Amino acid sequence: LDLDLRPSSQPVPAAERAAALADPGFGRYFTDHMATARWTFDDGWHDAAVHPLEPFTLHPAAAVLHYGQEIFEGLKAYRHADGSVWLFRPDQNARRFARSAQRLALPVLDEDDFVAAVEAVVRADAAWVPDAPDGQETSLYLRPFMIATEAFLGVRPAHEATFGVVASPAGAYFSGGVHGVNLWVTDRYVRASRGGTGDAKTGGNYAASLAAQAEARDRGCDQVLYLDGEEHAWLEEAGTMNVFLVTADGELLTPALGSILEGVTRDSLLELAPDLGLTPVERRVGLAELRERLADGSVTEVFAAGTAAVITPVVGIRGEDGTGAGYEQQVGDGTPGATSLRLRSTLLDLQYGRTPDLRGWLRRV
Ligand code: COI
Repeated sequence: LDLDLRPSSQPVPAAERAAALADPGFGRYFTDHMATARWTFDDGWHDAAVHPLEPFTLHPAAAVLHYGQEIFEGLKAYRHADGSVWLFRPDQNARRFARSAQRLALPVLDEDDFVAAVEAVVRADAAWVPDAPDGQETSLYLRPFMIATEAFLGVRPAHEATFGVVASPAGAYFSGGVHGVNLWVTDRYVRASRGGTGDAKTGGNYAASLAAQAEARDRGCDQVLYLDGEEHAWLEEAGTMNVFLVTADGELLTPALGSILEGVTRDSLLELAPDLGLTPVERRVGLAELRERLADGSVTEVFAAGTAAVITPVVGIRGEDGTGAGYEQQVGDGTPGATSLRLRSTLLDLQYGRTPDLRGWLRRV
């Protein structure tokens, strides 16, 4: 892609930007620029540019509006203490974006072009990358996406698509999330099943999660913990995050890949685990095992992990067993676990350049 830069002539006034950066929340404010590129079946990728953020014009019959042919990614740019700005493992997001594209029958964007587009937006909007004073986790969240734009009502892969990148300054995904969340183990809803789109990052998975999320809220929980679609017995993920268990004998245990999202944070934590004296284990994990081991104390901590939410300690689970009787179990002593918090600060220290990047995970913009 040859990304032309058309700078914004009407950027958000500096005082407004400063107010947004001081208290960004998540996903509420958008930067001055965006990247887009168009794809057509006949001509491939073209019209790539970084330009002022602007609304799209879509034909009302555009495939994305009817059949949900869409994919997205999430990654962050971090400002280090010396002012430099870095992306964390953007190549991993590029790879997953290509895999998601294949699953949703969208055109595959070259992985280097993906990273170049993300970098170009960060460069154009460098003033929007917040400082991260000690202990804060502010960053610039990047949201690459692709939509099928062809106006055609037949069900087949669209012959026109648009790729875009928007950016949004971000603080904590859950206000107060580091204090711990409760997960609702839904018996009613399933996120994905074998052969479905559970391992693709596509809007439909998230649309389908909203009713389950509402159920969780009704039950006084913050997020849903999904079980597998076939047996309703095995832990999957928490919708916007992968789940991890810490065991008394030093395992960092997480459900094996299959119908869950292959999280970049998930992968990074598994790789960092030995540095903290933990043994990373990926395998099927039963709800029954989790409940037994919470009860007997051999699972000491549970947390959820993702780009937006970093590491969010889980302090309790609730659900209903087969007979409809409710259960509620506390995790550990009901406060965030020490190992979860240590993993959290290990990851954040690396992302913010406070510890050396021994694996070449950071990429300077
Ligand atoms: C992320 O962690 O980046 C996500 O995509 C989760 C959610 C905000 C959709």
